[in-house]
Amino acid sequence: MLLAPSILAADPANFASALDLCAEGGADLVHVDVMDGHFVPNLSFGLPVLEALATRSDLPMDVHLMVSNPERLLDRYLEAGAAWVSVHWEAATHLDRLLQRIREGGARAGVALNPATPTEVLVDVLEALDFVLVMSVNPGFAGQRFRPYALNKARKLASEIRHRGLEVMIEMDGGIGADNVRQVVDAGVEICVAGSAVFGHPDPVAAMAEIRRNGRTERA
Ligand code: DX5
Ligand code: ZN
Repeated sequence: MLLAPSILAADPANFASALDLCAEGGADLVHVDVMDGHFVPNLSFGLPVLEALATRSDLPMDVHLMVSNPERLLDRYLEAGAAWVSVHWEAATHLDRLLQRIREGGARAGVALNPATPTEVLVDVLEALDFVLVMSVNPGFAGQRFRPYALNKARKLASEIRHRGLEVMIEMDGGIGADNVRQVVDAGVEICVAGSAVFGHPDPVAAMAEIRRNGRTERA
């Protein structure tokens, strides 16, 4: 399992220390939530913040674009240091073109699905993806409750990926913590995002260790 703490849940006045905690806690990726106040009802951070985070940390930046018109600033996010980029299926008109641009920019290309978007929409594009981000909350805010039916979506995707012999990874985002990470991993998820469960914890490094310990299964 790869652990991707979500910086959105950290103290915005102290992202540098949040990055240090990610490194100390052995995070695999840093999850960066970009929100435009249009695709989702909230604003978070944009290019300058991503650039500062990527410069300050050796960890790969996993950029989750919750924006309308993701094609508009995509190249700039890639230049700013995004190593993994997910665009929302619901926001992308020319998804295939976007995915090609992400890969040409040297990053891993992913598609994010809102909770109510069925996994079947990815059936044809699946082989052009490096990962699928299954949202287990409605995007927009950290600290929401996990939507259990996301597990079924992960299981369906995992079986389709296995059946077709593809290398696509499944990421899950929203409401994941030490109490439910095992179910998430058992459903076939390989990348777990955790925001509040890490940065809302009095000891984020211990929280990361606990999530990792609880997420361990025979095959992960
Ligand atoms: C929600 C974001 C998530 C969020 C996760 O829109 O995409 O990445 O930061 O935070 P938690 O783990 O608190 O749900
Ligand atoms: Zn996210």
